[in-house]
Amino acid sequence: MVNKNIYEFPITYTNPIPRIALGWGAYETAGDECKAAGIKKALIVTSGLRGTGIVEEIKGILKHAGIAADVFDKVTSNPKDHEIMAAYRAFVDGKCDGVVAVGGGSSIDTCKSIRVVAANGGKDVNNFTAHLDPPWMETLARLKPCTIPQISVATTSGTGAEVTSWAAITDTKKRAKVLVSAPNVQSTVAIVDPLLIRLQPRNFAAWTGFDAMAHGFEAFVTKVQGPYAYGILLRAVELIYQNLREFTYNRMNKDACEKMCWAATMGGIAIGFGAGAGIVHGLGHQVGALTDCHHGRVNAVLTLAGERYNQPAALDKFAAMTRAMGIDTRNMTDWQAADRWFEEIEQLMKDLEITPGHLADQFGLQEKDLEHIVEIYSNDFCSQGNPKEFDHDEVIALLKRVMHNSY
Ligand SMILES: [Fe+2]
Repeated sequence: MVNKNIYEFPITYTNPIPRIALGWGAYETAGDECKAAGIKKALIVTSGLRGTGIVEEIKGILKHAGIAADVFDKVTSNPKDHEIMAAYRAFVDGKCDGVVAVGGGSSIDTCKSIRVVAANGGKDVNNFTAHLDPPWMETLARLKPCTIPQISVATTSGTGAEVTSWAAITDTKKRAKVLVSAPNVQSTVAIVDPLLIRLQPRNFAAWTGFDAMAHGFEAFVTKVQGPYAYGILLRAVELIYQNLREFTYNRMNKDACEKMCWAATMGGIAIGFGAGAGIVHGLGHQVGALTDCHHGRVNAVLTLAGERYNQPAALDKFAAMTRAMGIDTRNMTDWQAADRWFEEIEQLMKDLEITPGHLADQFGLQEKDLEHIVEIYSNDFCSQGNPKEFDHDEVIALLKRVMHNSY
């Protein structure tokens, strides 16, 4: 495994981020953005967002700008390889020349995957997945860059996918959540509009908001986080800590809603600026692949166990996040300040009605699947960047514990 280790003086890679249009009414620019990107016929890719009217609204805006559109609305959470290939066929059959994602991470990442497949001969999307072994740099060298434009209209304040250079999809044969990428895979433009975000149902607001929080703290404590991402992440943690409760229970609070939008994109940007994620996303992805549970929810559920495991390896960073939340830590040791972060996160989850751990009861996860989860995780970037080095037996023990306990 050529790039399995992070050396004493690692090279930091940053990924390009798209132009971002963030603000009230930004979605109305979708037509002009398509035009500017040269799109004449778009494939709108979405999970449907039934009852919100958002898809119909975006379709109307495109029509007004003179852009024809087909709609592919069969995306589900943890988007499956066969859904992506069906969306790709809809793109080709419809003679489309651009994609418009309308939704959360699943729709946005399906669009990225369509473009990777289209740029690389229409082969099955599972040919373009990133792992530690074979080394990603070797796979990347064989990939042609994406050329089809993508406008991403985010409807959740959590995913960050609208600004990242990776797509998280499900390889249904391997029963694994995998990352797909290629040069130029990032959205052409990311549209983040609080008007759309606040139409989320309450549980989605909490779960996707916690996903943003997980990007904030995981990318902050990771081994590969550097100065580019440091300040962005602390600010993201602060904004989410201060606004997620209010946003979850009062989504018409425009200030809380807007701040969640900023924080969600900040998490995505920081991940792309070299920070990556760690054990919470790494294990959460695989639980999602097996049980199809919500990505943000499973990250929340694994947070206390995953980060308690990491605490000794990143004490100063947990203490820094407690300070970023606005808590006075002047009379605390770093251990005490780090412990306080866990107390605050546990309370936040309680307030959001999220139960930590209990993977068996909450998601139906079975003990026989734990070895499979850890095997996939061990070859994933998330295990590489996690502050505490990967140890098979320790991770199995952690998972066994949270099958029936909180952490
Ligand atoms: Fe995430």
